[in-house]
Order: sequence, then structure tokens, then C-alpha cells
Amino acid sequence: STKFDFVVVANRLPIDRIQDADGEPEWRRSPGGLVTALAPVMATADGAWVGWHGAADEELGEFNHSDMHLVPVPLSVEDVELYYEGFSNSTLWPLYHDVIVPPEFHRTWWDRYEEINRRFAEATARTAAPGATVWVQDYQLQLVPLMLREARPDLRIGFFNHIPFPPLEIFAQLPWRRQVLEGLLGSDLVGFQRQSDANNFMRCVRRYLGYTVKAQHIHVQDAGGAPQRICRAEAHPISIESRELARLATDPEIRARAAEIRAELGNPETVLLGVDRLDYTKGIRHRIKAFGELLEDGKLTVGQACLVQVASPSRERVESYAQLREEVEGAVGRINGEFDTMGHTAVRYLHHSYPLREMVALYLAADVMLVTALRDGMNLVAKEFTATHTDNHGMLVLSEFAGAADQLRHAVLVNPHDIDGLKAAIMTAVNMPQAESTRRMRIMRRQIAVNDVARWSRIFLESLAAGHEED
Ligand code: G6P
Repeated sequence: STKFDFVVVANRLPIDRIQDADGEPEWRRSPGGLVTALAPVMATADGAWVGWHGAADEELGEFNHSDMHLVPVPLSVEDVELYYEGFSNSTLWPLYHDVIVPPEFHRTWWDRYEEINRRFAEATARTAAPGATVWVQDYQLQLVPLMLREARPDLRIGFFNHIPFPPLEIFAQLPWRRQVLEGLLGSDLVGFQRQSDANNFMRCVRRYLGYTVKAQHIHVQDAGGAPQRICRAEAHPISIESRELARLATDPEIRARAAEIRAELGNPETVLLGVDRLDYTKGIRHRIKAFGELLEDGKLTVGQACLVQVASPSRERVESYAQLREEVEGAVGRINGEFDTMGHTAVRYLHHSYPLREMVALYLAADVMLVTALRDGMNLVAKEFTATHTDNHGMLVLSEFAGAADQLRHAVLVNPHDIDGLKAAIMTAVNMPQAESTRRMRIMRRQIAVNDVARWSRIFLESLAAGHEED
């Protein structure tokens, strides 16, 4: 079978199943920035993408779609339960996000995580041409780099962690901490969102594996303690398609839709906006609490201000997500019950996901964007809001616990655990003099315009290639 010079490996393939006009299933490329950044590289470098197609218990052969070769990795219903909902999203996800909910440690989940990582590694080993570059994505596949290196020492292997890497004191809890570190160190280059994530990782490597780490170079040893090779750890903050978002923001149809959204909300003076996957890391409850208290205090009033909260459904079969949904919906119901009038609502809550064009209209309709994550690898919503406000209108309230805070220093930065601080930050953003908000938005927008997702992937891949020549 055909072999490829550039292979991306991710839990999910970059396609979604949709129904065509006749109700027949067909595939459509996913809207995410990762795929748009990598698609051009894939097309020029003869690339393939290895991943799960999203349906359990369904075998699917390799196929071509949107100029990419796709290699589906099958998962059974039980694989989804143990590897995806279990170890990935009930052990690693909470552990890596500062244990906001308690991580669960189950040996059956770990065993399946190993087994599925091996399945991904084998599919990749079959797909990669001699000397190919392989780029493994995210926490679901941390064991793949080492498994792949053992099978295929000819490959150059990069890994990018999209979520935070926790401090040693928290990572310490993981019963399989050494295996995870060794798995990642199978790479030539491990990328993180923030420098602090890279530092956490290097500290764990020193402590639990005893390897020497100097200037971001990790000296990996073999089983006998002899020097084997170098793995580098670097910060590579991911971004968005800035230019495309700015272009959409000037589309007359989308601008008209933005005006229509404001009218549908009853033309409030201030539209506050939250956009998140419905996830406990996002600080949605803290945001709603702060907004409710501002209404109670009379600092904001219904009709004059409205909070639009888009919460897209996510990981609904995981218990902590189902519970969060109950809590958020209870809180929204209480606030609306208390403060709504016949004509106006306090919180417009939408448990849906929307196409990109509608999202851009929503960003444009908003005056104040609220990103209050308790912990977030990056948070692309903060960057999307900034990129779409080409007229420098509005203001961003941004959690210091989101990776985006490293780039968007001119937002109103907050600690979302501090409800009084969060309330003050919201009011600062709502009342900011226009000259000041314009100045800050312009600086942030320029930052994002230069540092887009195409640059992110280019710099990561250049570093991966350069490191190889060093060796
Ligand atoms: C985060 C993770 C991704 C994941 C996405 C959606 O952004 O970093 O790896 O794909 O959430 O979650 P899901 O579980 O639906 O893939």
C-alpha cells in the first residue's frame, strides 16, 4: 500500500459525518483550526491523517477526502468507554486541569489506553514512508511516540500537547506516571502551549526518570543508563486562522446577522458573551454567578445588559459533564426566574454548537467576551473574538489560567475563583472608555494577526526538522 512522508496522528480524524440532500451519510471536513493549518502541509508533503472517525463499532477502510489520505482507527463501544471516556477524559483530563474534579484511577482503563495507543502506533507505522515525519496530537495518545520509535527508528516524531501539563505535585498522583513520561520522550520534540507547561514536564522527567535536562534538551537514557538520544521540550502556543476570521467579519451577510442578533435580544446596550464546550474547566458557573450578583447588586440591569452563553454539548456520557450540565442549567433557570421581564431575558442559554459563520456573527454582536476558564491549555475563543473585532470594538475579560493570557496581555485579566474580582473585571470591561478599549483591542488583534495557526504549525515543524539535523 502507499506510504506517506508526513503523517498526523490524532484521536479524531478531521472529518464529520453529515447527511446529504437525500439523507445519505457523507463526510465533511471538520471546521477546526488544526485541520485548516495542516491541510496545505498534507497536500504538498504527501500527507496522511490517522485517527478515529467518531463512530463506535464501525470498521471503515482508508479513503481520500479534501486532499488528505485518511486512515481510520476503529474503536469498539468498550474501547470508547475505557480509553476515551475513561482514561482520557476521566483520568488524564481532570488530572491535567488542576484536578478541578477528582481524577479516577482504574487499572482496566489504563490497560485499554495502552492497547488503543498501540493500535494507533501500528496504524501509523504501516502508513509512514521511510524517514517520514510524524506529528502526534494530544493527551489521548501520549504513549504513541515511544511505541512508534520502537517499531520505526527511522521516523522523526513530534508530539503536541493541546492541554496543560500539570505541576509535578499533581502529576505525581498518576500511578503510570513513568510510562507516560517515557511514552512522550519517544518524540524528538514535545510541544506545549505555555513555557510553564514545558517546565512542568521537564521537572517531572528529572524527578521520575532521573534524566539530565539542560536548556530544554532532555538526555534520554537506555535501560542500562547509557545516553541514548535527545528529546526537546518547547513552548509553541497554538492559534487560529486570523485572516479568514477577519475576512468573515467584514462579510456583509454576517454583519447583518450580527445586527439581527442584537435586535433579537431586544437591543441591549451591552451584550456579554460566553462560548464554551460544556466543560467544568471553563468556569461557566463562576461566570454566571458573577453576572447574577451584578444583577442583584443593581450594577447591571436586565434589558440594558444580557449574557449570551453558548455551551456546546460535549462528552455527555461522562458523569462529571452530565452533572455540570444540571448545575449550569439550574443556575441559569434561577437567575432568569428572578430577573427576566416579559420582554427581556438575563441569560440567553444555548446548548448547541453553531457553524462558524453564525459564531462570527455572535462575536460581532458582543461587547464583552467572557473567558473565565479555571484552567485551559490555550482557549481559542479568546483569540477568535479578538480577530473578528476588526473595528477594535469591545473588550475581552480573560482568565489568567488560560494559555491565551500569555499572548493577550491587554485583556482584562482575572482570577475566576475570585468572584468579587471577576465582577469588578466585568464592570471594568463594560465601562472602559472607548479610546482605551480601542487601543488594547488593536494591540491584541495585531498579536493574533501575526501569530496565526499556519505560523504555529510551520514553526513547530521547522524546529522538529532542525533538531534532527543537530543530531
Ligand atoms: C480539547 C482537546 C481535543 C479534543 C477537543 C474536543 O480541545 O484538546 O483533543 O478533541 O477538546 O473534545 P472531544 O472529546 O469531543 O474530542
